[in-house]
Amino acid sequence: MYICVCHGISDKTITKLAIHHGAYEIRKIRQLTPLGSQCGKCVRPTKELLQKLAADHLLPQAC
Ligand code: FES
Repeated sequence: MYICVCHGISDKTITKLAIHHGAYEIRKIRQLTPLGSQCGKCVRPTKELLQKLAADHLLPQAC
């Protein structure tokens, strides 16, 4: 499922970046992708996804 429709960034891509590349904060995701740089509607769902991953103990800390 696309989280960022403007740039075609999926929840799987964000999950992979967070778990395997240490991008577990929205700031780090935005350094690696153009997420949120157009309409910005994807920022909140991305934060929620990162919080869910953290709650599931898949990340070192919440964003
Ligand atoms: S949905 Fe991500 S910038 Fe528009």
